[in-house]
Amino acid sequence: MEFVLNGQFALYAEKVLSSKKYYKEYLNGEINSAQFRESMVADASLSGAAWFNEYSIKRISLMPPDEKLPAETIINYLTNNNIISKCENMYDGFDEYRKYIRENYNHGKFITFIYPEDERLLYAVTKITQPKKIFVAGSYYGYFAVWAMKTISENGGTAILSDINGEVCELAKENFEKLGYGNNAEIYCEDSETLLARRTESIDMLVLDATGKYDDLRPEYRGKRIYGALLKDAEHLLKKGSAIVIHNMEPENPEMKMLVEELQSINALGTSYDTYNGVGVYVIV
Ligand SMILES: C[S@@+](CC[C@H](N)C(=O)[O-])C[C@H]1O[C@@H](n2cnc3c(N)ncnc32)[C@H](O)[C@@H]1O
Repeated sequence: MEFVLNGQFALYAEKVLSSKKYYKEYLNGEINSAQFRESMVADASLSGAAWFNEYSIKRISLMPPDEKLPAETIINYLTNNNIISKCENMYDGFDEYRKYIRENYNHGKFITFIYPEDERLLYAVTKITQPKKIFVAGSYYGYFAVWAMKTISENGGTAILSDINGEVCELAKENFEKLGYGNNAEIYCEDSETLLARRTESIDMLVLDATGKYDDLRPEYRGKRIYGALLKDAEHLLKKGSAIVIHNMEPENPEMKMLVEELQSINALGTSYDTYNGVGVYVIV
């Protein structure tokens, strides 16, 4: 394969698929997601393409033909239910910002599964809710958080990033400094549960994107179960109006059971959209 597998997986997948007739048909709405998936499975030329295994093909087939769909479906749900107020300018500056980030972000040796629809969703939700303090659990090298940073910096706010991997924290720091967000971010190479427990200042937004170690001695912190545990750990920092943005949100996944229960118990209302990753946004009412 001539593509180097670092940086944005979505752009790599798009490159692999760009010449395929069925991909264009999917984007044009001529075939549906199931047909898109069947076409990829039947396409022998994909068998040599890195990352195009059965699981990945299933996820890729869930990418929305229009990247605005997840953001607009979720935001319409939130506005129609009076959970957040309507905002006409939620995408203002987005295209220029995306160009700037794509040209300047250093992915190092890492790969991100943040898809264009995830970028747009976080950008729009921060534009609408105007948070000043956000906490990102499992921030990796900052590539999801950065879509909140334009609004955070305009608000003179702070993003608290935490990840247990020192290398990704260093890369996040390097990128945030380079982009001019050094004064708007605190990046901790520390597990989010310890950091959350220590903190006392309330937060306007919690972003959940950690994947717990599968051999963690605490079963509730393994894999995506960690989301439920972290939401509990963050409860003392959340208040009415705080938003919870969840990457890889799959409400039916048994690993998310505690998360779904915890969202209910803190009165967080919202919805999710099934995409390559699955995304959800909830707001405490
Ligand atoms: C798979 S990454 C998220 C990737 C992101 N979805 C993307 O595609 O760019 C999950 C991160 O959670 C971090 N992590 C795991 N357990 C954690 C914990 N207890 N607290 C904070 N971060 C944790 C890992 O080090 C890893 O960087």
